[in-house]
Amino acid sequence: MTLQYPTPSPGLELDVEWHKRAVFYEVMVRSFADSNGDGTGDLQGLISKLDYLQWLGIDALWLPPFFASPLRDGGYDVADYTAVLAEYGTIDDFRELVAKAHERNMRVVIDLVLNHTSDQHAWFQRSRTDPDGPFGDFYVWRDTDAGLPHVRVIFPDAEDSNWAFDSERRQFYFHRFFSHQPDLNYDNPAVHDAIFDVVRFWLETGVDGFRLDAVPYLYASEDGNGESEPPTHEFLKRLRAMLDDEYPGRVMIAEANQWPAETAAFMGTADEPECHMAFDFPVMPRIFHALRSQDARELVEVLEEQTDIPEDAAWGVFLRNHDELSLEMVSEEYRQAMYGWYAYDPRMRINLGIRRRLASLLDNARSEIELAHALLLSLGGSPFLYYGDEIGMGDNIWLDDRDASRTPMQWTPDRNAGFSTADPGKLYLPVVQSLVFNGHHVNVEAQLAQSRSLLHWVRNMLHVRRANAALTLGDLRVLRTDHESVLAFVRRHREVRKDGTVHEHRVLCVFSFAHAPVAVEVQLPGDEGAILHDVFSGAAFPAVSGAGGLSLTLGTQGFYWLTIESAHHD
Ligand code: NOJ
Ligand code: CA
Repeated sequence: MTLQYPTPSPGLELDVEWHKRAVFYEVMVRSFADSNGDGTGDLQGLISKLDYLQWLGIDALWLPPFFASPLRDGGYDVADYTAVLAEYGTIDDFRELVAKAHERNMRVVIDLVLNHTSDQHAWFQRSRTDPDGPFGDFYVWRDTDAGLPHVRVIFPDAEDSNWAFDSERRQFYFHRFFSHQPDLNYDNPAVHDAIFDVVRFWLETGVDGFRLDAVPYLYASEDGNGESEPPTHEFLKRLRAMLDDEYPGRVMIAEANQWPAETAAFMGTADEPECHMAFDFPVMPRIFHALRSQDARELVEVLEEQTDIPEDAAWGVFLRNHDELSLEMVSEEYRQAMYGWYAYDPRMRINLGIRRRLASLLDNARSEIELAHALLLSLGGSPFLYYGDEIGMGDNIWLDDRDASRTPMQWTPDRNAGFSTADPGKLYLPVVQSLVFNGHHVNVEAQLAQSRSLLHWVRNMLHVRRANAALTLGDLRVLRTDHESVLAFVRRHREVRKDGTVHEHRVLCVFSFAHAPVAVEVQLPGDEGAILHDVFSGAAFPAVSGAGGLSLTLGTQGFYWLTIESAHHD
């Protein structure tokens, strides 16, 4: 079935599975490329880099908020949902971005900040000045700050209460995040209508989906903790039904930083679907933990728990993003271990997390960066890369808050690392100048010129992954091994060809987190005698033994992707 989009966006056909095959790239408009030399990245700058992203092998962009905003929370403080921030360009620039991305078969997903607005939003201004007017109940107002006592403070470094007093209305308003971000009142049906209008507005520009910011927090009940409460799920089901009905092929991606079962619940069930994807917050910190503990068992556990999501849903796996590496949903002991390994300087910490980029977290160790990416690109679900991580960009912990890892993209060894022609002092944030990561040597141009650079390596991995349906669409089964440092799983995809024949594709993925070489036996019951080949080179490996065991040796932090062909065909 091929349907055109109901909007004039050129070029894309209906594909209800695209999100299951896509490699996503998170790119902050402000940080990527400055087209007019004012020191701030913009939409035209991003458009000028689409060829680069296409070359890299990116299928979809995720753009954090680029809407009118006082930028007190990187744009997650939205002052007008349907206006583009003037520094970034115009709505026509945005339409052009969508059209030019679509021409390259690349999709565009934008952030939808559902839970709260900026206190500068007209809805809030009207709510505080006119309590009896149409926006009077758009936010959660109380006479005291004693309500909703079980709701946690998410930014404990900045706030010590979820209530703030408004001197105009002379009441308290509820806020989950910064006090300048009042929470919308989802008990008010008019809020639903207003948000549905925003969603339709952007769908009409041709966007391919939304990352739903802070989605567990829409509803809070007096007795509950205000996370993942049932009416929040009901709202998402309604939003999903609207998309399926009016805009098939567009997706919803949940930012739900919750315990594993609660996170999965944001994808709903086959009968009652919610989001098409949810970020894999449960797996992410466990990857970093395994890299230092040299122990894969917690990853094994969490991957084994993770099977039950609807057929058309997919996990969004990631290593880093524009926020701190969150340690909210891990035990205290675990958190302290992570701080010890990765945030030994207190400046590296924020709230319950670590505000560093991938390459600096891993101390710029190429083998670790490769291992982390290899795992990211073979886990079940679709990977999300964070801009700059493909060249191993570093961070700047002397900047405030999460700006540490939102510095300008490093393109060339030139002024401002090629990000902007502005006076360096005018940049929205300085380019990283540290000894190890400064833009003079860590940049796209230099890495393009070196065939063994991280950039070429990442690109090659993306292209190899794309050519293996097992690695994109396959299910995942964890295997037993006799070494605690080794994680092994099989990705398997059953391709039904046009003539009705079924072809099974399988890839065995093996990762060693040990800081020294290891020998391991992997159990492949039912695969006695199966033939293995290296995915990259095609080289033959020893076959699985008659007892279903496979003996492998792996170098320090090594990995394999091996195709499996059964010895017996059924
Ligand atoms: C999650 C976003 O990723 C983060 O950057 C933001 O501060 C909070 N939501 C509040 O909107
Ligand atoms: Ca600019």
